[in-house]
Parts: sequence; C-alpha cells; structure tokens
Amino acid sequence: MQSQTNDTHSAVPDAASLRSPQIADGVRLWQLAKDSQVLDVNSSYSYLLWCRDFSDTTIVAESAGDVVGFVSGFMRPQSPTTLFVWQVAVDRAQRGRGLGVAMLNRLLDTTAAHTLETTISPDNTASIAMFTALARRRDTSISKQTLFSADNFPDSHQPEDLYTVGPMDQLTKEHADNDNL
Ligand SMILES: CC(C)(COP(=O)(O)OP(=O)(O)OC[C@H]1O[C@@H](n2cnc3c(N)ncnc32)[C@H](O)[C@@H]1OP(=O)(O)O)[C@@H](O)C(=O)NCCC(=O)NCCS
Repeated sequence: MQSQTNDTHSAVPDAASLRSPQIADGVRLWQLAKDSQVLDVNSSYSYLLWCRDFSDTTIVAESAGDVVGFVSGFMRPQSPTTLFVWQVAVDRAQRGRGLGVAMLNRLLDTTAAHTLETTISPDNTASIAMFTALARRRDTSISKQTLFSADNFPDSHQPEDLYTVGPMDQLTKEHADNDNL
C-alpha cells in the first residue's frame, strides 16, 4: 500500500521517507551495496565522498530511523540534463514495496532531468524490471544498447548494457518540493 502526494510520480511506501544523504549515511550505502550481493562494492571512502559531493543527485530512503535504500547518481558533465544512475539498492526486507521506483521518481523530479541513463548487467532481472516499470509509470520509453563489454573490464565482470529512459514529462517545482509523504 502506498501513500500519495498530490502528483502521480511521488508515491512513497507507507512508513518510509526520502531525503538527501549526509556523510554519516555513507556507511549504510556501503553496507547496502555489500549486502545486495549483486552490486559492485566500491571502497567505503567512495560512498562517504559521494554523500558529500553528490548529495543533490543521490537519495536515501529511511524507515524507522534506518536507511533502507539509496540511489546514487550524477548529472553527466557531457549532458547536464541527463541523470546517470550509478547504483540502486533496497534492503531485502523492504523490497517489492515500490521504494526503488519512488526514489528514482523523486530524483528525477528534484533534478528536473530530461533523460535517465543507467547500466545493467544482462542477468539482473530485478533491475531491468524496475527501470521498465519507471518508464511505464512516467509514460515514456526505455531503450537498451551495448556500453561496456566483458572485455572492457580488467577483471572478471559481466557486460553492462546502457539503458536510457526518457524523455521525462517534468512536474512543476511546487510538486517536486512537496514533502507531504
Ligand atoms: C532492484 C531493486 C533496487 C528493486 O527495489 P524495489 O524497491 O524492490 O523495487 P520496486 O518495489 O520499486 O519495484 C519496481 C518494479 O520492479 C519489479 N521488480 C522488483 N524486483 C523484481 C524482481 N526480483 N523480479 C521481477 N520484478 C521485480 C516490481 O514488480 C515493480 O514492477 P511493477 O511496478 O510492474 O510491479 C532491489 O531488488 C535491489 O536492491 N536489488 C539488488 C541491487 C540491484 O540489483 N540494484 C540495481 C542495479 S544498480
């Protein structure tokens, strides 16, 4: 069950709230990435740095005082209206409630991004389903092309396909700022 704001994009599961990260959240981002057993686990330092320098394009979901999910991203320097989503993770106990899509929607609204990009390895069906659901709910398209092949990586790594979602029909700033969860 979801609570609704006064727009169709920002539905957030009951008992959860979304906010920008602080440096102190870096440890939870690192833990959630590690616990996912799917994501590349980057250095703990990189998550702290991300929370400091990319807090406008990163979001965390909080439930009962605990950070239970995050989306990290950045606006591409070569394409400033494109939000590149680097990692998404939701605590196992909180999955399937709409948190992943809610965080992505909130970031799209607050950044006013025109396009979203992300890379997904071919076997990550949950991630493909989540970004496909996002495109469907925003009534826009999703497309896939090859970006990084396995040969591009120095270590053993699956290929990463580039998914592009957009163009986005943006909400007004008034709606994006609405924190009435
Ligand atoms: C991918 C992930 C973030 C999804 O989070 P979530 O909060 O459970 O996602 P949502 O509840 O918002 O679901 C969004 C859509 O994806 C679908 N979905 C989610 N997990 C799925 C799964 N395992 N299999 C099939 N579909 C799935 C949902 O049914 C929903 O689609 P719908 O609207 O058509 O019903 C979560 O499974 C996770 O943390 N996985 C490990 C890390 C990872 O793979 N991250 C993504 C790569 S960066």
